[in-house]
Amino acid sequence: MTEQQTTIGEVFSAGAEEFHGWSPMLWDQVGQATAEVSAPSLGERVFDACCGAGASALAAARMVGPGGLVDAVDLSGALVAIGERRAGEEGLGNLRFHEHDVTAWEAPDGGYDLVQCALGVFFFPDMDRDTAKLGALLRPGGRLAVTVWEKGALGGWGQAFKAAVETEREWPGSPQSDQLARIDTPHGLACWLEGLGLSSPQVVRRDFAVPLTPAGAWDLAVGSGTRALLTGLAPAAVESIRAHFTAALEAASVTDLDVRILTGTAVA
Ligand SMILES: C[S@@+](CC[C@H](N)C(=O)[O-])C[C@H]1O[C@@H](n2cnc3c(N)ncnc32)[C@H](O)[C@@H]1O
Repeated sequence: MTEQQTTIGEVFSAGAEEFHGWSPMLWDQVGQATAEVSAPSLGERVFDACCGAGASALAAARMVGPGGLVDAVDLSGALVAIGERRAGEEGLGNLRFHEHDVTAWEAPDGGYDLVQCALGVFFFPDMDRDTAKLGALLRPGGRLAVTVWEKGALGGWGQAFKAAVETEREWPGSPQSDQLARIDTPHGLACWLEGLGLSSPQVVRRDFAVPLTPAGAWDLAVGSGTRALLTGLAPAAVESIRAHFTAALEAASVTDLDVRILTGTAVA
């Protein structure tokens, strides 16, 4: 496991409670939308990469039925534990959670019918190389489904958070946003999937708005990858960023989270 991957898992584990607070309004909606496009069918074997609290894995497990199987894998032990609890509450015995690096996962005999990854590939150290590793887990003819933020998604929330962080520290460029920028349009995502050696790429777009309160906006910032931008700051600086963030959201009249996603599928 690389140092960068360990850090990503730790970031998401530290914010797991706030992350899961957004499950009903955001992550589960994205997971359901992903599974509607990836379309797991009865009896299939599915690998859910970067599963978080299980949003798309739970949806897939319902769709493959008791004769199917879903392996849900994430670096964050705290999120995996939440996913396990949710699967147990639903009695989904066909859904197994694992705390592991998805880029070092081994395929079962014959490979998976479907590999899906919602909002995860841009966190990989090398998005092309590491997503190709996910594709290699498929049986011949199996499907890869990748959901990403569309260009401009979460705009008002993201701009207010950036402005607030910049009151305390310089905004660092991030490899994740550089990687995402290559695949955040339907054309870019389809071409990228083809470039990985997969065929018949298709992209489905989806958008919806979620009402945003100041407390919810902050929870999303500390319960997702943006939490890393607060690491190492003194508590007073973090509180000051929170106050600036709330003020910036109000000044720009940001009352909704603007969710826009793309799900690309392609065949191995
Ligand atoms: C934005 S969250 C998305 C979680 C979930 N797919 C969802 O949509 O709710 C990104 C997740 O990717 C995970 N992740 C990033 N790189 C990973 C890797 N190499 N192996 C396993 N998990 C990884 C993080 O721990 C985090 O839980």
